[in-house]
Amino acid sequence: TPMGVFRNEPFTDFSHSDKQHAMKDALLKVGDLLGHEYPLIIGGERLHTPGKIESHNPARPAQIVGIHQKAGKDHAEAAIQAALTAFSAWKYVPAGTRSSLLLRAAEIIQHRKFEFCAWLVYEVGKNWAEADADVAETIDFLEFYAREALRLAAATTPIQYPGERDELLYIPLGVGAVIPPWNFPFAIMAGMTAAAIVTGNTVVLKPSSDSPTIAAKFVEVLEEAGMPPGVVNFCPGSGATFGNAIVEHPKTRFIAFTGSRDVGLDIHEKAAKTQPGQIWIKRTVLEMGGKDSIIVSGDCDLDAAVDGVIASAFGFSGQKCSACSRAIVDELVYDLFIERIRERVASLTIGDPTLNPNMGPVVNHAAMQSILSYIEIGKSEGRLIAGGQAIESPEGGYFVAPTVFADVAPTARLAQEEIFGPVLALIKAKGFEEALSIANNTEYGLTGAIYTHDRVELDRARLDFHVGNLYLNRKCTGAMVGAHPFGGFNMSGTDSKAGGPDYLLLFTQAKSVAERL
Ligand code: SER
Repeated sequence: TPMGVFRNEPFTDFSHSDKQHAMKDALLKVGDLLGHEYPLIIGGERLHTPGKIESHNPARPAQIVGIHQKAGKDHAEAAIQAALTAFSAWKYVPAGTRSSLLLRAAEIIQHRKFEFCAWLVYEVGKNWAEADADVAETIDFLEFYAREALRLAAATTPIQYPGERDELLYIPLGVGAVIPPWNFPFAIMAGMTAAAIVTGNTVVLKPSSDSPTIAAKFVEVLEEAGMPPGVVNFCPGSGATFGNAIVEHPKTRFIAFTGSRDVGLDIHEKAAKTQPGQIWIKRTVLEMGGKDSIIVSGDCDLDAAVDGVIASAFGFSGQKCSACSRAIVDELVYDLFIERIRERVASLTIGDPTLNPNMGPVVNHAAMQSILSYIEIGKSEGRLIAGGQAIESPEGGYFVAPTVFADVAPTARLAQEEIFGPVLALIKAKGFEEALSIANNTEYGLTGAIYTHDRVELDRARLDFHVGNLYLNRKCTGAMVGAHPFGGFNMSGTDSKAGGPDYLLLFTQAKSVAERL
């Protein structure tokens, strides 16, 4: 194709001093831009509301990253109407034009990569590498869906019936509510939005109240790239009022959500209720939680397993649906593994993410309280190996020590409930079969990994480790667009497989056209 083949955006190597300088420079520049106010954008118009949402730096909560408006019920009506108006034209815009919009947006972001990384550092507390991965994934989603949209537009029926010209058109659904999370506040937010609009839908985007600024920056990029007014309507607001109003609106055709299990199930239930005047069955694309396991076999490369568990459990302070919160370890290597994990956790650096430690803060005060309450539960359910408390900082940041409990029972709350923080449970297993059945014993099914040299175990895991994203001898976080289509089973969601060849189908409906010749 003229746009060339897709390649994953390379990660920045921050061991190079020029990259370090570029990042420090961006942190200074963005540091001067903190605390600005951002409007709602509905049908291209800038609006202000009396109520505000303040986004704070979780490492120093007194620092305001951005001040945002707070859309309410009335804005839901206005935003849906603006999206409907835009839809009547956007749905006829050729796929090539829509996909060019994504490519231009990707290019703008690529040129200002360090700046977007800096926003992520300040707004949600990512360290440099985590921020860089989030920005790279944003570029990947835009580049990947731009190409996928062209592929979909060129789809044909498998058979031409004799005497006919047969076509299969993947047409858009209509107006969508896009409700992304704060943990990949750039990539997942942009990915869901881009998939919706590149297929011809229009969107009301309600970012998380923990990360509205990076979303505002993305909408600025779309406008700079030439997006017509009303195609994406930018509306920070509370989930309980504005979020529910756009989910329940009779003109909403679909909801794309990534976030917690409870909110996802609530959206699913609300979307299922037919409203007066509603003439379709709303579609939901829901990506929810995980309680993800890494199996450490008796016969494995223990160094690789320790690396993989540490990266998966404590990357971005464990605040990933894909995070390893359970290591299920063969009794043959269990005691050794505990000692190795203890050493590694002791060497992790924790601090202000502008200084690029291994771990920054957790996202807000409520998250910290919730994680600390799980740590208290852990103290009665397991043997504390490392961490176990908050870390005080002079600025009052939300720091939680990387925490490990050993001897956790497979059915303990610590082994079953998503904590979404830097808390790892170690579970001892008698052999591979028991490890596999423990790995499959939660209501979730998002990611999982196994470290082993045993081909029989790898093959069994391939068939029977029931997760949407399975990794063999590799960490269980960091899915790559295109290579690892992402999404999970059971209570982890609708297995939408973001970054995969089936994702755009979720934002379309297929129309068969047969013309008699
Ligand atoms: N896609 C992310 C990962 O694989 C999670 O959302 O870690």
